[in-house]
Amino acid sequence: MKARIMMSIIAIIILTCATAVAVENQGAKDIMLDGGKKGNVNFPHHSHQNAIGDCKVCHDLFPKTAVTIKDFKEQGKLKKMQVMNKICIECHKLKEKAGEKAGPTKCSQCHVK
Ligand code: HEC
Ligand code: HEC
Ligand code: HEC
Repeated sequence: MKARIMMSIIAIIILTCATAVAVENQGAKDIMLDGGKKGNVNFPHHSHQNAIGDCKVCHDLFPKTAVTIKDFKEQGKLKKMQVMNKICIECHKLKEKAGEKAGPTKCSQCHVK
């Protein structure tokens, strides 16, 4: 009987963990990023999650919270255009070079006024 109760408890723990992973907050589908004087950048968040899979590609540099890039730049934790150059454009250029589906690399394709 004790073993059964233990098994049930373990099963409940495993189920709870699995559910927690499944419902991780994916954030907004599309996010308007502050692009300074150049104009804002409309970033398709979910389509990148689907194309890349790994959240860390971007969220190693900044956490999964809204308006963080702007705050981090103001606090000096990120340099201006660091995310743009080291994350966004870097990947788009690599993909383009590899002949794969890529994102934009020209200023006006990302920045809208
Ligand atoms: C290609 C880059 C990239 C990838 C990959 C990525 N994100 Fe994000 N995420 C962003 C950006 C950019 C923001 C907005 C940050 C800001 O507003 O300063 C953001 C914001 C968020 C937020 C904050 C809420 C919101 O909607 O603003 C959550 C939650 C989040 N991401 C979850 C995830 C999860 C979960 C994954 C992986 C499945 C993921 N992200 C993958 C770039 C990315
Ligand atoms: C792939 C999309 C993309 C392309 C292409 C792009 N940018 Fe950006 N840019 C961003 C994003 C996202 C930000 C905000 C994050 C950051 O500052 O790293 C930004 C921020 C900026 C800022 C504001 C920096 C600040 O904090 O004041 C300027 C200025 C800028 N970009 C200029 C340019 C110029 C000039 C080009 C063309 C040579 C260009 N961008 C191409 C996405 C892009
Ligand atoms: C690891 C690779 C990778 C990173 C990092 C990445 N992108 Fe992309 N991006 C892609 C790919 C691949 C596509 C093409 C997806 C498609 O066409 O289905 C794309 C497409 C786009 C598009 C065009 C979407 C459309 O519907 O035409 C925009 C705008 C864009 N990316 C902006 C950004 C911004 C801004 C960042 C940084 C915050 C970023 N990307 C980071 C790989 C990346």
